[in-house]
Amino acid sequence: MRTKLVAANWKMHKTLRDSKEFVGVLLSQIKNTPEIEVALAPPFTALATVGETLKGSRVRLAAQNMHFGGQGAYTGEISPAMLRDVACTYVILGHSERRQHFGEDDDLINRKLVAAFENQLIPILCVGESFQERHAQATEKALERQLRADLKTIAVEQASRLVIAYEPVWAIGTGETASPTDAEQGARFLRELVGLLYGSKIAESVRIQYGGSVKPENAEDLLSQLNIDGALVGGASLDPHQFAAIVRAAARAMKHA
Ligand code: 13P
Repeated sequence: MRTKLVAANWKMHKTLRDSKEFVGVLLSQIKNTPEIEVALAPPFTALATVGETLKGSRVRLAAQNMHFGGQGAYTGEISPAMLRDVACTYVILGHSERRQHFGEDDDLINRKLVAAFENQLIPILCVGESFQERHAQATEKALERQLRADLKTIAVEQASRLVIAYEPVWAIGTGETASPTDAEQGARFLRELVGLLYGSKIAESVRIQYGGSVKPENAEDLLSQLNIDGALVGGASLDPHQFAAIVRAAARAMKHA
């Protein structure tokens, strides 16, 4: 059985003080859910501090982005080795906000994925269709185009460690959540595609999260779907009580499985 992974993507939010307060509350509220893996992706400025505060807990540290290079003259960038240095386990790659606002294309995302695996970081690869693609009945085409291109040079051994986040772009930060059926359909399609690319064993073990307006009220239904192995949470992850409620919803969802 795949372990569910509930991850907080704080995006460009939270100072050091906010981050420390958050961790204190969160840890006290998720004690009874050891079966759920939890990760926090703070902004770069808070990674080291959050990492220190999480020491000895089961919560993992994630970065929101990284550069693919080893080191060098790349002003403003952060390398995979720097993320390892602050004890990151995960790195979010290919988020639609990076694709949309920072011109990241599938080639670049592929290079970042390669670098993540080379540096023993687990990538959380985000893919998702736009509003226009959904309305043109082109959801699966968009998912397939992104996944194939992002993974084009990724080998089987690496793919077995991958986490995929299905994040329909129209559902991010809009309050409009994909219905559990739609989210499941997207996740199932991605799993089938992983099966085509890497075989059924890898397809069965790869974890696929759903992201897009996940809240305490809708989390249990979404996370009860057969192919949804967790959530990548934006807005609702900024409040430790709400985020902890989502972790608890994931634990309830596991009980129905
Ligand atoms: P929201 O939960 O705010 O819709 O954001 C989702 C997201 O982008 C997580 O990466």
